[in-house]
Amino acid sequence: MVDSKAFNKDSISNILIVAVSVCLVCSVLVAGTAVALKPAQLANKQLDIRKNILRAAGLMGEDSLPGEQVDELFGQFSVKIIDLKSGEYNDEIDIDSFDQLKSSKDPGLSNALSGDDDLATLRRLERYSLVYLVEGEHGLEKLVLPIRGYGLWGTLYGYVAIEGDLNTIAGLAFYQHKETPGLGGEVDNPDWKALWAGVKIFTPDGSPAISLVKTRSAAESTAAAYEVDALSGATLTSRGVQNLMRFWMGDMGFGPFLKNLSKEA
Ligand SMILES: Cc1cc2nc3c(=O)[nH]c(=O)nc-3n(C[C@H](O)[C@H](O)[C@H](O)COP(=O)(O)O)c2cc1C
Repeated sequence: MVDSKAFNKDSISNILIVAVSVCLVCSVLVAGTAVALKPAQLANKQLDIRKNILRAAGLMGEDSLPGEQVDELFGQFSVKIIDLKSGEYNDEIDIDSFDQLKSSKDPGLSNALSGDDDLATLRRLERYSLVYLVEGEHGLEKLVLPIRGYGLWGTLYGYVAIEGDLNTIAGLAFYQHKETPGLGGEVDNPDWKALWAGVKIFTPDGSPAISLVKTRSAAESTAAAYEVDALSGATLTSRGVQNLMRFWMGDMGFGPFLKNLSKEA
């Protein structure tokens, strides 16, 4: 005869044992899956960065390409790290593990910005930046630089591609922002992005002069060379894009690096 007191499956202790066991099994499964997927997530993140750089440089369209083709196209670039303040290359930092956006929040790797210095509303500026160069037989052909700055609702993150003359925009692409679709979100409109190719960056005295304007200056005027159409109904986003472009092309951003490169050319 079975002693019903010997085993009571509904006892508190049994319920607790089953609940804890189920929790343990589930957490091991979730943690195991997260660890197993980590390499794939990192590979996807890297692929995404590469696609965005290629798009900014006009070396890849909006369509998706298989990973191998993206890697092959990206092979044209040499990736380097620069010290933003001196504009010199830094060979000591490991490029593969360098996380520029993370470094911008690290007090040891960034500096606080305020007032007029913080034209792009970044609050902190990293000391080192990644740069992507395409070099050909006759020297630098294209340079792609990471840029970011505040729009209306949040920070816009993107890349700008510059021609080998270091004074002409080759392309611009934002890969993350919070602007309103149809208004500030038109930064993603291919027609608007196409307006950037050929726009001049610096005045003859070396000041960044890119302007987003509601009304273009006369084509033959000096000002016209630096102008891009503002986004309609999105004055604040347009102002943000103008500010971030002027910031990153200026002395606080890539200015020193661009000056060093033009001395080398
Ligand atoms: C729901 C909503 C979303 C908006 N989103 C944006 C935006 O993404 N970027 C922007 O500059 N202005 C946006 N605006 C408009 C601004 O509040 C402001 O009116 C506009 O920048 C003025 O631009 P305009 O002088 O070209 O008309 C938004 C307005 C509303 C009501």
